[in-house]
Amino acid sequence: MKITFIGLGIMGSRMAANLLKNGVDVTVYNRSKEPVNILLEKGAKTAATANEAAKNADIVFSMLSTPEVVDYVFLSEDGVLSAMKKNAIWVDCSTVNPSFSIKSKEAADNFGIRFIDAPVAGTKPQAEHAQLAFFIGAEKSLLEEVEPYLNFMGAKVINIGEAGKGASFKMLVNIMLAQSMIIFSEAVLLGEKMGISKEFLLSVIPNLVVAAPFTKFKADMVREDNYEVQFPLEWMHKDLHLAAVTAYEMNQPLYLANVAKELFAEANKNGMGRLDFAAIHRYLEKK
Ligand SMILES: NC(=O)c1ccc[n+]([C@@H]2O[C@H](COP(=O)([O-])OP(=O)(O)OC[C@H]3O[C@@H](n4cnc5c(N)ncnc54)[C@H](OP(=O)(O)O)[C@@H]3O)[C@@H](O)[C@H]2O)c1
Repeated sequence: MKITFIGLGIMGSRMAANLLKNGVDVTVYNRSKEPVNILLEKGAKTAATANEAAKNADIVFSMLSTPEVVDYVFLSEDGVLSAMKKNAIWVDCSTVNPSFSIKSKEAADNFGIRFIDAPVAGTKPQAEHAQLAFFIGAEKSLLEEVEPYLNFMGAKVINIGEAGKGASFKMLVNIMLAQSMIIFSEAVLLGEKMGISKEFLLSVIPNLVVAAPFTKFKADMVREDNYEVQFPLEWMHKDLHLAAVTAYEMNQPLYLANVAKELFAEANKNGMGRLDFAAIHRYLEKK
C-alpha cells in the first residue's frame, strides 16, 4: 500500500514518523519544508505539491490546522481530492467541525474517494510514542482497511459511527479539556489569594476526584511557568469556535464553553497562540 501524509506540524510530523518506523511506504507533503526534510532523512519520499504527493496513494492521511485549510488543500476545484486515484481512501485526522466532515465526505463521494474522519485524542508525547486515540466516523469495513496504519500511530481506535461522528465526539472532548483547564486555574489562583501555598495546590488538586486527571501534567507547566507548546492555544480557541458553530447548527445552548471561548480568544489576541493551551493559567493570573 502506498500512503501519503499531508500536514507535518506538531502532530502530523510525529504520526508520519511512526508509519516510517514500521516500514510503511510513505510520501509526505507540507507547506513549509523543514519538517519534510527531517522525514526524508527517516526514509520518506516527497513531491513538489500536495496533489503530486497524493496522486498514486491508496490512503491519504491529513493533519491540518483548521477546516478552512482542509477545504483549501483538499476540496477546492483543483485540490487534492481531484488528484487522488478513484476508490482511494482519505483519512482526515485534523480537528474540524462535524458539518465540515460531512461536507468533506460528500466532496470525496463526488470524486469517487472513500472518506473517514479520524481526529485524535492525545498531544505531542502521545503522537511521538504512538499512544494516540483515534475517534472514527466510518463504516466498519472501511475502517478495517486503514486500521493497521492507525495502530502504528496510536494505541486505541474507537469507532463512534458514520462519517462526522469522529469529529462530533472529538468536539466533546475538547470543550471539556478547555473548561477543565480554566476550572483548575481559577481554583489554584483563588487558593493562592487565600494564603494556601501554590505548591500544595498544584500537587494536591489534580489528585482530587473533582479534578480532571490531565491537570496532573499541566500542573508542571504552571509550576515552572513554562508553556512550551504541545497543543497550541490558538487551536483550542479554534475548537471552541467550532463547538459554538456546531451548537448553533444543533440549536443547542452552550453556556460555559462559550465563556471559555472568549477567554481563549483574549489570550490568543494577547500573543499566546503558540504557547500550550495551559498558558490560559498565565493569562488568568495576569488579567
Ligand atoms: N497539538 C495537539 O496536541 C493536537 C492534539 C489533537 C488534535 N490536534 C489537531 O490536529 C491538527 C494539527 O495540529 P498541530 O498541533 O499539529 O498543528 P500545527 O503544528 O500548527 O500544524 C498545522 C499544520 O497545518 C499546516 N497548515 C496551516 N495552514 C496551512 C495552509 N494555509 N496551507 C497548507 N498547510 C497549512 C501547517 O503547515 P506549515 O508547517 O507550513 O505551517 C502544518 O502542517 C489541528 O486541527 C489540531 O487542532 C492537535
